[in-house]
Amino acid sequence: MSKFALEEVLSVHHWNDTLFSFRTTRERSLRFKNGQFVMIGLEVNGKPLMRAYSIASPNYEDHLEFFSIKVPDGPLTSRLQHLQVGDQIMVSRKPTGTLVCDDLLPGRNLYMLSTGTGLAPFMSLIQDPEVYERFEKVVLIHGVREVSELAYADFITKELPAHEYLGEEIAEKLVYYPTVTREEFHTMGRLTDHIRSGKLFEDTGLPPIDPRQDRAMICGSPAMLDDTSALLDELGLNISPRMGEPGDYVIERAFVEK
Ligand code: A2P
Repeated sequence: MSKFALEEVLSVHHWNDTLFSFRTTRERSLRFKNGQFVMIGLEVNGKPLMRAYSIASPNYEDHLEFFSIKVPDGPLTSRLQHLQVGDQIMVSRKPTGTLVCDDLLPGRNLYMLSTGTGLAPFMSLIQDPEVYERFEKVVLIHGVREVSELAYADFITKELPAHEYLGEEIAEKLVYYPTVTREEFHTMGRLTDHIRSGKLFEDTGLPPIDPRQDRAMICGSPAMLDDTSALLDELGLNISPRMGEPGDYVIERAFVEK
């Protein structure tokens, strides 16, 4: 069997000039944990051109969803951004990744800290019933430069609370905290600054992060991962040392060189 399945594009949504999402069919045999990524790509000059993409849809859906930037001269995204319904795309059959619930110790509140397309794995995770069974509050923070980059905001705030099975739990437990750095918005600044200053806790009414009880997952650019990990370390949280060994927090870089 080939390493890649050929999936068909079911829909494409452009958020703005730089971001888009698309859905594909899903091979029935593909099993993954919410938060994991796969390699996806296209054949270019007779060879597969593959990049890592977090799966943005939960593992109980029949389709797969991906959230991508558009880089004008990016080898893959310059092509991917022109995907049309009915096109085919290659999807690897080996999902993997560190942003999985299994690698977090039990706890009170779970912080999902993301910037840019680092939101993608959390879109899968916030639709996972296990997350709500394990934590009292699930705090999804999305930091972006401009308001138009707040992809999925309406889905999170309007559609998810009306979700057929999870709606009630989501309405009670999910706290969505978008923050914008380079444009006027009700919440402005970097997520690391909001944690340090305590603004996040003032705005949400949540207690400050307690390393004995609270857990976190981080996905963003390499610099964001460094700074956010350093902050959590300072607060006394311990990173999961390796896959399969739970810790207070887990990290994964958003896959941006496309
Ligand atoms: P800023 O505008 O202050 O750089 P990028 O597109 O560069 O990945 O940035 C996405 C968002 O993440 C931006 O709001 C950016 O803020 C923020 N950001 C960039 N680097 C960091 C960092 N080291 N820690 C926290 N937030 C960051």
